[in-house]
Amino acid sequence: MSSDSFTFASDTGIAAIGLQLPPLAMDVRELAELRGVDPNKFTLGLGCDEMALCPEGYGVVQLAAGAAKRALSRWDGSLEDIGLVVVGSESALDMSRPLSAFVADELGLEGDVRSYEVKHACYGGTLALRQALEWRLSGAARGKAALVIAADVALYAPADPGEPTQGAGAVAMIIGEPKVARIATESYAYSEPAFDFWRPVGDAFPSVEGALSLDCYKRATERCFQQLVGDRDPADALGELAALCFHVPFPKMVKKGVRQLGESFGWSEEATAAFYDSMVNPTMDWNRKSGNAYTASLWISAAQALAGRKAGERIGAFSYGSGFGSELLVLEAGDAAAEGAWTADVEADLAARRLVDRGAYESLRGSHVAAAE
Ligand code: CAA
Repeated sequence: MSSDSFTFASDTGIAAIGLQLPPLAMDVRELAELRGVDPNKFTLGLGCDEMALCPEGYGVVQLAAGAAKRALSRWDGSLEDIGLVVVGSESALDMSRPLSAFVADELGLEGDVRSYEVKHACYGGTLALRQALEWRLSGAARGKAALVIAADVALYAPADPGEPTQGAGAVAMIIGEPKVARIATESYAYSEPAFDFWRPVGDAFPSVEGALSLDCYKRATERCFQQLVGDRDPADALGELAALCFHVPFPKMVKKGVRQLGESFGWSEEATAAFYDSMVNPTMDWNRKSGNAYTASLWISAAQALAGRKAGERIGAFSYGSGFGSELLVLEAGDAAAEGAWTADVEADLAARRLVDRGAYESLRGSHVAAAE
């Protein structure tokens, strides 16, 4: 990949990042004991560690607004400079009123602003980011910045096989001056209509075809990366990137996606494993503490991968949303990436959060189930 394979606008990218994790979590080993399952299945089999949980009265709006306030606090603009607020989520509170309106209420954000919600399973946050980028590049922004938020609370029915992959979190990004990162104008999308994961209107919890969802995810990975690589040598093309971030339903699923990629490139198992260990696995530390935060999962990983990175280094960001849609983006670290100010959000939330035991979890789930019905 030559250095001019991508086009980066000089005046548009990520200006600031804020993250928010909820105040509770549970160790998946504790969940394994509750469900009578070998804890190694959740830790080694799925690659999970802790799942972030929301207490009663706390949910997607608090997560989204918390992340937004943190991003705004480290941005040199003001609310009057925001011309677009868009929330990507699959935890909508209402079929009509967008989550962006609930968040705008919390922020006191109103005026000459386009405000809406995007839904496409876990892909919604990436679509929100792309729309904000393309809004700026189109000229429609008239110099204003966008506030993009990916926020979700992922809960499965109690004892569902997906239960250990639960999680929650939000990432907010201000799209304006590219101080944190530039985003390549080129992107690589692939979609197919599928019923791999869905939540019909009125259902509290999702339905999942686990094996189908894995197949779709692997195929999406292969198709998106093949577009980026084109007719170059895959190792050369991907070697230009310093790290690769994925949507993380749970870390083992990412590993399987990378394995598929290696097979499609004709790499040996050893070469694929080395690639995963050096390029992908190190970007998922925060995901192991959040669990699956759906739309936020990829951006939690990307935020970690950008923190501490030297200006000019590039990362790949692969987004997947069931249904299904996928897209691979390339980001280039800006001057503010090295400082990684948003790391403080994760450190503060992890230090302050309380790990619940199985009894507290069961009563919490009782309240969640009751609230959902
Ligand atoms: N010790 C170590 N490993 C063990 C073990 C033990 N005692 N017992 C089992 N394992 C391993 C298994 O070998 C298996 O590993 P491999 O896949 O490498 O073979 C792994 O643990 C899981 O075991 P199972 O497949 O038997 O587990 P399961 O049938 O209970 O399925 C699940 C669990 C994989 C999470 C399944 O529920 C699933 O696929 N869930 C949904 C996946 C998902 O999240 N899909 C959506 C993706 S996209 C998204 O995030 C949603 C969106 O867009 C909205």
